[in-house]
Amino acid sequence: MKAMSLVDRPTKLARTLARKLYKRLDTTFGRAWTSLVEDEMSDAEARQALDTQYQVTDPFKMDSPKEQFRFAETNRILAAGLIAPQSRVGSILEIGCGEGHQSEYFSRLCDRLTAIDPVADAVARGRARLPGAEFIAGDLYDQPWANDLARFDIVTACEVIYYFKDIPGILRKMSRLGRACLVTYHRPAAYLVEGPLKAMPRGGRATFVFEDVEWRAAWWRSP
Ligand SMILES: C[S@@+](CC[C@H](N)C(=O)[O-])C[C@H]1O[C@@H](n2cnc3c(N)ncnc32)[C@H](O)[C@@H]1O
Repeated sequence: MKAMSLVDRPTKLARTLARKLYKRLDTTFGRAWTSLVEDEMSDAEARQALDTQYQVTDPFKMDSPKEQFRFAETNRILAAGLIAPQSRVGSILEIGCGEGHQSEYFSRLCDRLTAIDPVADAVARGRARLPGAEFIAGDLYDQPWANDLARFDIVTACEVIYYFKDIPGILRKMSRLGRACLVTYHRPAAYLVEGPLKAMPRGGRATFVFEDVEWRAAWWRSP
């Protein structure tokens, strides 16, 4: 077994404490998905937890004023940061579409929306909600086009990046697949996301707030 160096030890301790703190803050905000960011959860356990969550309709309360505000703000940021002066783009890939609530918003900004999520029940509901979009139930990395360069005009990952154990890897994948990218995340998760984001090309940043909840957005054009 590899011994932990003196350099690794404080970093690992800090990460563990930060994760615990994030879990505490997140519980305060009543979110249901925090445990999936835990490194200790295997991929199979994480998938099982997601499948279980989607046994009920709208487990994340996406119809609530708070989430509807988030979708509208995200569209505003996307339009101003990556689409203007045009009013729409040809294609958007939405990673982590769930039941398609945010897909409805993204579809207003593009001609073709491709939306992907590993949970088949959620994707089936998304398909029914938005028949004009392409919904894929599965893993992004398993798609035949997963290594394509600039396949989409924009790739989005909203409130989903923390589900990936390799955050730098998914950011690089987004940058390869899209001519431009947008990520949004819940502020208490910033410690997980903002380090890896520094490796992406310089783009824009924004913060938006609804009552006691803050989100951050980052976007960039791929090289
Ligand atoms: C908190 S919800 C966010 C849904 C939507 N993006 C939004 O912002 O409202 C997270 C979604 O990410 C999905 N997800 C989890 N792991 C994923 C992965 N590896 N690839 C794509 N989606 C994933 C979950 O199934 C869930 O639908």
